[in-house]
Amino acid sequence: MSAQPLRIGIHDISFATAHQVLDLSELAEHQGIDVNKYYVGIGQSEMSMPAADEDIVTMGAEAAGRIIDRHGAEGIRTLLFATESGIDQSKSAGVFVHGLLGMGENCRVVELKQACYSATAALQFALGIVARDPREKVLVIAADVARYALDSSGEPTQGAAAVAFLVTADPALVEIEPVTGLHTDDIHDFWRPNHLSTALVDGKYSLAAYLRSLEGAWTEYQARGGVAFDDIDRFCYHQPFTKMAVKAHDRLNTIAGSGLDRDARRAQIAASLDINRRTGNSYTASIYAGLLSLLNDDEADLEGSRIGFFSYGSGSVSEFFTGVVQPGYRALLRRDEDAALLDSRVAIGYARYRSLHEAVDEVRGEDVVTARETTGPFRFAGITDQMRRYERTR
Ligand code: HMG
Repeated sequence: MSAQPLRIGIHDISFATAHQVLDLSELAEHQGIDVNKYYVGIGQSEMSMPAADEDIVTMGAEAAGRIIDRHGAEGIRTLLFATESGIDQSKSAGVFVHGLLGMGENCRVVELKQACYSATAALQFALGIVARDPREKVLVIAADVARYALDSSGEPTQGAAAVAFLVTADPALVEIEPVTGLHTDDIHDFWRPNHLSTALVDGKYSLAAYLRSLEGAWTEYQARGGVAFDDIDRFCYHQPFTKMAVKAHDRLNTIAGSGLDRDARRAQIAASLDINRRTGNSYTASIYAGLLSLLNDDEADLEGSRIGFFSYGSGSVSEFFTGVVQPGYRALLRRDEDAALLDSRVAIGYARYRSLHEAVDEVRGEDVVTARETTGPFRFAGITDQMRRYERTR
């Protein structure tokens, strides 16, 4: 009798975002344009805006803290921190989180970067670690602050969030299937040189590059024996703005020749858009915020449903893969907590947003004590002797 194949995937997932929020009507009013360009045209209503004492470490620790509170840190021997908003060129943001959460010292901690794709690289690396030894548990944290220059066309697509997930054998939430399709292309659609705190982007070109990469990854996924389009129930895309997922899904339907009408196509992705519509782009966290949003949909029973994932990171690297939602997954969700995180953010106006945006460039490494602003459980307390200091607030 042959042994059952090892099932590996996402055992738990949790989310955090910055504790202030700008409604895009504030931005539209400042620009003197119709807000429906944002609410409808790009499908974004709000963007999370970090206070001066919030960053990828505070959001990442908050998201991961919920996983540790539930499962404990014991047995987590790898922490992968995916981000393109790094706070140090050498030390991983994950090591700060490891310290804040009091995790055990027998742990490897590393940071990964490839624009918005890196959390998917972390997931694939985690699957490999668990495949080699099924006792392993890997904590993945994806966290980013999406920043474009003030008054640029990318400005309404900023945002901030973190998603943490635990990868184990016999996962309770989503088993990740082995076939994947990959695509890499050396391009400049979006990038951030070391001397800039905001990204540069060729907006329209980046949309075309995303769609071309989707076709490339899907084609390889099919060639490697991936399931047919019709055998995938829901889809979850990287969402720089939610309309991008709508465009991508329409394109995939065309490539696959699905014959689905507009309503059927929208139904396959609608629930995955809710969180991102309110946080804005969170770069590498965005597709996993999409997964959480999809799982949190209380109108759908997704047990046994197959989800198709398309992860895209500018520059560019992408991957198409699938996962199957596990029986009993609903018992593990934190719907009310997730809704409260979004609803309890402090609304700020345009002037406050602008001063917070400008303040990022004022942090240059001199000693600084950061004013207490966040309502979250962790904060960036300031810099002493060129070292960043973080603390728990409760
Ligand atoms: P834009 O030029 O300001 O906007 O830039 P637009 O004129 O193209 O309008 C946007 C949409 O709003 C259009 O709809 C308009 O028709 C509509 P579409 O034709 O695309 O369906 N519109 C309206 N709708 C209703 N009522 C109105 C109205 N007015 C206009 N009154 C752009 C838009 C997205 C290019 C810009 O915001 C940008 O550059 N964003 C940043 C780049 C980006 O997000 N690229 C996505 C692909 S690359 C990627 O995903 C990777 C990334 O996440 C980074 C990483 O990997 O790390 C970015």
